Amino acid sequence: MRVAMIGTGYVGLVSGACFADFGHVVTCIDKDSGKIERLMRGVMPIYEPGLDELVERNVREGRLSFTADASQAVTGADAVFIAVGTPSRRGDGYADLSFVHAAAREVAALVDGFTVVVTKSTVPVGTGDEIEALMREVDPSIDVAVVSNPEFLREGSAIEDFKRPDRVVVGLDDERARAVMHELYRPLSLNETPMIVTDRRTSELIKYAANAYLAMKVTFINEVADLCEKVGGDVQQVARGIGLDKRIGAKFLHAGPGFGGSCFPKDTRALARTAADAQAPMKLVEATIEVNDRRKQAMAGKIMAALGGDLTGKVIGVLGLTFKPNTDDMREAPSLDVVPALIAAGATVQAFDPEGREAQQLLPDMQFKSGPYQAAQGADALVILTEWDQFRALDLDRVKGAMRTPLVVDLRNIYLPQELRARGFTYVSVGRP
Ligand SMILES: NC(=O)c1ccc[n+]([C@@H]2O[C@H](COP(=O)([O-])OP(=O)(O)OC[C@H]3O[C@@H](n4cnc5c(N)ncnc54)[C@H](O)[C@@H]3O)[C@@H](O)[C@H]2O)c1
Repeated sequence: MRVAMIGTGYVGLVSGACFADFGHVVTCIDKDSGKIERLMRGVMPIYEPGLDELVERNVREGRLSFTADASQAVTGADAVFIAVGTPSRRGDGYADLSFVHAAAREVAALVDGFTVVVTKSTVPVGTGDEIEALMREVDPSIDVAVVSNPEFLREGSAIEDFKRPDRVVVGLDDERARAVMHELYRPLSLNETPMIVTDRRTSELIKYAANAYLAMKVTFINEVADLCEKVGGDVQQVARGIGLDKRIGAKFLHAGPGFGGSCFPKDTRALARTAADAQAPMKLVEATIEVNDRRKQAMAGKIMAALGGDLTGKVIGVLGLTFKPNTDDMREAPSLDVVPALIAAGATVQAFDPEGREAQQLLPDMQFKSGPYQAAQGADALVILTEWDQFRALDLDRVKGAMRTPLVVDLRNIYLPQELRARGFTYVSVGRP
């Protein structure tokens, strides 16, 4: 199949490269010509494990190409994917659909003959109808089937998630699209990945319901962690004790500094907005948003308390700035709340992240160090904010030797309290004695 992918970001680039690897001929399009130019030189615009090799191979074998000019790729495509951003609209929490609408208009002017237009971006229920209407406005005689095909990949394991998903969700109201969607995902049917075909609105809702549920689960265990700290108890053992119950499941039960990233925060906000507007308010989702926002802000207070309440003149080393490991994505990362609050309270913050280079621009008052030991140098506290693997196996004697005071605040619970204490550290973690 000939595929055009509008938007070559985390989702568009990974999906495009994986569809090419399935054997389709894919052109990835982006209006950011700098990004396209770098991709044409083989330079990845994002950090995602395995992506450079996947892209290089599919380009070399002639199935994957890049362009800033949509016309070359859209005309004659069997399927045109829209994978542009849908950030929170500033101020009100609704999903900003301006990029999706603009892409739909552009595509409408270019399609030629029957074309399946697939929304991969996460969009509120009813957006498929809007896209269809917009396209007909541009060209009343257009022959398109607009399909919803939400993406569930996780940054950091995006390729594996795309190629071996738990399920593929397809929402369609035009039966002609069914065969095209089956053909696009045919390699997955060989390993029996379930494909759930629903109407378009249901599919749009599935994506938000999934993300809101996961965000709620994280927030639930974070509240259990707070309770453990007050009444005594170990949140990791509580999580294990409940997670082995198959009705609950062990995933997304790791207490931490609150969720961030490019999806959960904006998607919970957008769902809460949709639900309130439809007079079916989702109180659990609203509470999740509120509890999580408060939590991210409270983390600086936790660090401050561990340092005795006064940060004036204190040096704080921070390990990890991205919203999770194995990505360079800084969108709504807890570090963006925690670091400025520490600096405002008088601390000097020196941080290291293996990939979060954008952090230097986003947090200009923070010092960016070249490695974990450099971040620990002369520090009064070392804070673990993102659980990159390389922080799990630090040379603790070297860390201790570098620090002014051996205090570790582990907001990801990656170390064992007894181990750190036996090595002479004061150790504070989340929801554990
Ligand atoms: N990042 C994730 O982990 C993830 C996972 C699942 C779903 N999603 C959803 O996928 C969508 C895309 O997310 P992302 O993280 O890939 O965003 P992103 O910001 O990384 O990428 C979007 C890209 O689209 C480009 N773009 C915007 N308008 C365009 C246009 N008219 N023509 C061509 N290019 C255009 C931008 O330049 C940008 O490169 C969002 O709706 C998001 O919610 C993201």
